[in-house]
Amino acid sequence: MDISDVAAIVTGGASGLGAATAARLAQRGAKVALLDLNRNLGAAHADSIGGLFLAADVTDERAVAAALDRAVAAHGIARILVNCAGMGPPAKVVASDGTPMPLDRFAHIISVNLLGTFNLTAKFAARLAGADPIGEERGVIVNTASAAAFDGQVGQAAYAASKGGIVAMTLPIARELARHGIRVMAIAPGLFHTPILDSLSEAARASLASQPPFPARLGRPDEFAQLVESIVTNPMLNGEVIRLDAAIRMAPR
Ligand SMILES: NC(=O)c1ccc[n+]([C@@H]2O[C@H](COP(=O)([O-])OP(=O)(O)OC[C@H]3O[C@@H](n4cnc5c(N)ncnc54)[C@H](O)[C@@H]3O)[C@@H](O)[C@H]2O)c1
Repeated sequence: MDISDVAAIVTGGASGLGAATAARLAQRGAKVALLDLNRNLGAAHADSIGGLFLAADVTDERAVAAALDRAVAAHGIARILVNCAGMGPPAKVVASDGTPMPLDRFAHIISVNLLGTFNLTAKFAARLAGADPIGEERGVIVNTASAAAFDGQVGQAAYAASKGGIVAMTLPIARELARHGIRVMAIAPGLFHTPILDSLSEAARASLASQPPFPARLGRPDEFAQLVESIVTNPMLNGEVIRLDAAIRMAPR
């Protein structure tokens, strides 16, 4: 799909991988709407790239439906959806004091990462299915999984499960939406330098950065955005999960 003049939605677009993706798509001529919980960062970034900011929680059905309607009114029907909104503070199944992880903590991470991604996917695809195709396709969805879907570390039970769910639903949704000419892909990033890592000490960041075999550094958010661009513009990419991880396989802890 040609990116120029096409409407795009980027969730989590206020920060990190989503912000870089929104900026790259805007640079390529897309009409970009950022959907994010963070009003201050989201509005400022939308302004800086000439995009539209939509304040919504990805887990809120009504807020997401209203945000997508606003985006359609401003930019026309969206052809590109990139789901980057996500979080996952670590927590052990059994804490060091012997208490089990509260179920609502596990459920919250599943809700934001997996249900939120599905919420956007379903509502975006339903709006797009009735639109005219552009050439041979109608649009494309790129979801963000994680290397943790395959090699989750201690403390990542909920996060890895949420990202594993994104991996597992890629093919069935791609198969289902094929009749509408909508592709579905997922990217499983390794370690990228985003605000998620800013809470770590310099030493912890340096240790993480040395782990990928090559290149032995943290990924740059624009390198993620570059893969999103490749996926959007290459119609043969469909129903697949691509690890973007400099060959890292995460250690148990
Ligand atoms: N940075 C990495 O190394 C890395 C590695 C693997 C996967 N990922 C995944 O990439 C995605 C982006 O991560 P990032 O590193 O850019 O993090 P980030 O914290 O910089 O950005 C995440 C964005 O999502 C938004 N968000 C969180 N919950 C939301 C909700 N309920 N509704 C709407 N918006 C919400 C936040 O406000 C934030 O702007 C996440 O899904 C993360 O799990 C990141």
